[in-house]
Amino acid sequence: MLPISHTASPDQPANPKPKTPEVLDRKNLFNSLKPYLSFHHRRLWFFLSVVLLQLLLILLSAPSIPLSLSTAGTPNPSPTIQNLTASSTAATTIITTINKNSTTSGDCPFGEVYIYNLPPLFNTEIVKNCHDLNPWSSRCDALSNSGFGKTATGISTVVPENISTAWFWTDQFSTELIYHNRMRNYRCRTLEPESATAFYIPLYTGLAIEKYLFTSNSTAQERDQHCKMMLDWVSKQPYFKKSHGWNHFISMGRISWDFRRSKEEDWGSSCIYMPKMRNITRLLIERNPWDYFDVGIPYPTGFHPSSAADIINWQEFVRTRRRNTLFCFAGATRGIIKNDFRGILLSQCYSESDSCRVVDCAGTKCANGTSEILSTFLDSNFCLQPRGDSFTRRSIFDCMVAGSIPIFFWNRTAYVQYELFLPAEPDSYSVFIDRNEVENGTSIKSVLEKISKEKVKKMREKVIEIIPKIVYAKPDKGLEGLKDAFDVAVEGVLRRNKLQEGGYKWK
Ligand SMILES: *[C@@H]1O[C@H](CO)[C@@H](O)[C@H](O)[C@H]1NC(C)=O
Ligand SMILES: *[C@@H]1O[C@H](CO)[C@@H](O)[C@H](O)[C@H]1NC(C)=O
Ligand SMILES: *[C@@H]1O[C@H](CO)[C@@H](O)[C@H](O)[C@H]1NC(C)=O
Ligand SMILES: *[C@@H]1O[C@H](CO)[C@@H](O)[C@H](O)[C@H]1NC(C)=O
Ligand SMILES: *[C@@H]1O[C@H](CO)[C@@H](O)[C@H](O)[C@H]1NC(C)=O
Ligand SMILES: *[C@@H]1O[C@H](CO)[C@@H](O)[C@H](O)[C@H]1NC(C)=O
Ligand SMILES: *[C@@H]1O[C@H](CO)[C@@H](O)[C@H](O)[C@H]1NC(C)=O
Ligand SMILES: *[C@@H]1O[C@H](CO)[C@@H](O)[C@H](O)[C@H]1NC(C)=O
Repeated sequence: MLPISHTASPDQPANPKPKTPEVLDRKNLFNSLKPYLSFHHRRLWFFLSVVLLQLLLILLSAPSIPLSLSTAGTPNPSPTIQNLTASSTAATTIITTINKNSTTSGDCPFGEVYIYNLPPLFNTEIVKNCHDLNPWSSRCDALSNSGFGKTATGISTVVPENISTAWFWTDQFSTELIYHNRMRNYRCRTLEPESATAFYIPLYTGLAIEKYLFTSNSTAQERDQHCKMMLDWVSKQPYFKKSHGWNHFISMGRISWDFRRSKEEDWGSSCIYMPKMRNITRLLIERNPWDYFDVGIPYPTGFHPSSAADIINWQEFVRTRRRNTLFCFAGATRGIIKNDFRGILLSQCYSESDSCRVVDCAGTKCANGTSEILSTFLDSNFCLQPRGDSFTRRSIFDCMVAGSIPIFFWNRTAYVQYELFLPAEPDSYSVFIDRNEVENGTSIKSVLEKISKEKVKKMREKVIEIIPKIVYAKPDKGLEGLKDAFDVAVEGVLRRNKLQEGGYKWK
């Protein structure tokens, strides 16, 4: 494991803040100055603040600054947005000139990420509108806490008291918020676009379309508008033009298929099929395995450890847990038709009730994780992970975080999805059962009982070893000394960029 750099200074510098205009992104400004602050260049700091302020005042009071990041050509959101974009750009340019030596390349061997300063319409305003994002209920609780949701209450009946605070009611579609928040605080973030090796586009594509996915009268145009506006904007940026989008990436909080509409009347947005999206890498909870630019990332679970110690405690808890049930199935049981593969598993599970436990996730009961699901996984040696409406499920990660060994029936459920996170040898941490054999009457129980105790122990140890890589840590800066899912994902993206140097690989 690569230790995370400790050189970064604390989140909020104790030094006096200059009075910057409202429109400035203060966090960016302070982050860029941290190296100076931490080297006690106070006089330099003072001098710079004065110069900076003067420059800013001049720039902000001049109405005719050319807008290099103009949104011309796109449906113009609102004048406020343009003003914000213009002044932030000006600020970034100034910072650039005084911030040349801010990082040492040793800390970030794969380079640094620049976050595009998108108008708030594309992200913060969507979240502000959380009460109106889907047709049924408010999403405000689910999107609170930077996407982790509310603290999980009542979970201490299931997990040790001192780890229960690491549990939240996290929604499975919240990665756009989680990644954006972590990216803002990422140790390999840069505020100078010219020194970036990758560019992050903080559009909340999935949240933006949620409302339109589930209203029958929504139009294709409504489901495409945010993505289209973003692409029009981003494709005008010099760094996009330079790389044809190859070093750009975005996190999209839903499965790939929600963004691959080919006909007007079909489901979803056509975002991924838009030509300008072609070379942009997308972090998705389910990828299309044939598209190089789709990268699978873990669904968020409810476990968000605050420290490496939390993880170690948790690993020890699930390792020593007494598991009374051989296997389990958590999923929606209603609406499953007999011939559905899940129906076959369900009926096996019900008829082997001594060794199998069912959790009925009717409706949206399981969408944010519940203590009943967690306790079922904690009590089971194995968990069934069939495909559902799509190939993947959040349940894969709920199961593994609880130290239970997943049973897969489709290669596409995990093995060709989460390659950055899961070991290359599927049987080191999971069981694969041919679904045709199950349809032909093979009993899951008999397959599992043939696996030796020794082998089960080894597999569980592997699952436990994976846990840090599939959870999203609580601290904005991640965990010290441990890489979590965010670190692994972003490093994977940066590494791809590095591989592409010296000639594009088209795949
Ligand atoms: C934004 O710019 C427009 C015209 O350039 C101006 O009328 C308006 O007052 C500005 N708004 C803010 C908040 O500065
Ligand atoms: C910046 O780095 C260069 C070499 O990388 C060095 O020569 C220079 O002195 C540094 N400047 C400051 C202000 O640290
Ligand atoms: C939490 O409690 C467990 C025992 O239940 C103990 O082993 C562990 O050290 C405790 N962790 C912390 C951080 O207090
Ligand atoms: C769809 O219906 C809702 C209410 O039923 C309405 O508020 C909305 O404007 C309609 N949208 C379109 C595009 O017709
Ligand atoms: C994507 O990359 C290929 C290869 O570099 C390039 O030919 C193509 O124009 C790029 N597409 C876009 C939309 O930039
Ligand atoms: C999570 O789901 C449970 C069970 O349906 C529900 O009681 C709870 O309010 C949900 N929490 C959030 C934050 O959505
Ligand atoms: C799953 O992948 C493995 C390895 O690539 C392959 O041998 C096996 O036939 C695949 N199984 C199914 C059911 O596609
Ligand atoms: C399932 O049964 C059918 C018909 O008996 C047979 O042709 C097929 O090979 C069997 N498949 C497996 C995987 O056992």
